Amino acid sequence: MGQIKAAITAVAGYVPDNIVSNKDLEQMVDTNDEWIVSRTGIKNRHIEKDPTKATSDMAVEAVNELLKKRGIGPEEIDMIVVGTVTADYPFPDTANLIAAKIGATNAFGFDINAACSGFIYSITTAAKFIETGTYKKILVVGADKMSSIINYEDRATCIIFGDGAGVVLLEPDNQGFGIEDTVLGGDGSGVEFLRMKAGGSLHPASAETVANKEHFVFQEGRVVFKAAIKGMSECIKEVMEKNNLSTEDVDFMIPHQANKRIIYGVADQLDFPHDKVLVNIEEYGNTTAATIPLCLRDFENKFKKGDRIILAAFGGGFTWGSVMLKWAY
Ligand code: UT7
Repeated sequence: MGQIKAAITAVAGYVPDNIVSNKDLEQMVDTNDEWIVSRTGIKNRHIEKDPTKATSDMAVEAVNELLKKRGIGPEEIDMIVVGTVTADYPFPDTANLIAAKIGATNAFGFDINAACSGFIYSITTAAKFIETGTYKKILVVGADKMSSIINYEDRATCIIFGDGAGVVLLEPDNQGFGIEDTVLGGDGSGVEFLRMKAGGSLHPASAETVANKEHFVFQEGRVVFKAAIKGMSECIKEVMEKNNLSTEDVDFMIPHQANKRIIYGVADQLDFPHDKVLVNIEEYGNTTAATIPLCLRDFENKFKKGDRIILAAFGGGFTWGSVMLKWAY
């Protein structure tokens, strides 16, 4: 028997039906399709229109699809970890709401707030509970209803973000498949360039914070752009060097989908052939913690058992990280 690794054994995802195209945004802010496509690669984003639906509801859609695909019941789930910055409430956490809604009566869970790196932080954390033999079935969710914190009068941010949820199931594997290594990093000085200014304990919600539109994403795009290319390239390089891998040893790279120019900038820094880099940003925009599991869902049919895949993200915090794994099915 080999060492226990945490393997992804199923993936699923959900995006709302309602599509907001670049043309739609042209009616809302001073922008145009040509600018958005050439600067970001985004054509559409899916936005939840129903005000009664929150992040947990999108996650529940994804999780229920996953349980059906894997042929297991909710009571078999031991633990749920949710990467999100758009929890339904400041507390309790979204993981507990999801557990209650799907009937995962034997599970506990918690949220991880690492912005666009939320899924990478979450899967790394969850993997440790599998590797130690503590739990057998863990749901790792990346979900964000970004439309709930986006100012649709701000052209610098509203064109980028979309809503969505993705989920993977982690189970133990002792045949050499699953997560082989991870790298996580952070730098809190990045708060200056990407944050939601109010609604936390520093600036609780008040008439003034609402009037100042401080409950929305604030971003200095150019700074984040450069930091994202550097941060993602370095953590991918680190995980490859630690394991003596070259790009030839890697079948696919799945970067966080924030901007097509960031994605291919990272690929070019590392001499990664573009056909190994999986991209679906055109259709969803940046769904924050959901981008990587949605990519796994969309490209699942491309993967063969034993394929080596590197996942990587960079986001608010700043936070970043990479995960190297062998596909298990
Ligand atoms: O998920 C992790 C966190 N987020 C990211 O990784 C995002 C990182 N940043 C970016 O992707 C890019 O910086 C943006 C897409 C946000 C912006 O692209 P950019 O190429 O960095 O544009 P910029 O901010 O340098 O702006 C260039 C020009 C400006 O006009 P001037 O000053 O040159 O006259 C902007 O006012 O483009 C203008 N502009 C727009 N024009 C049309 C900014 N937004 C828009 C817009 N439509 N939506």
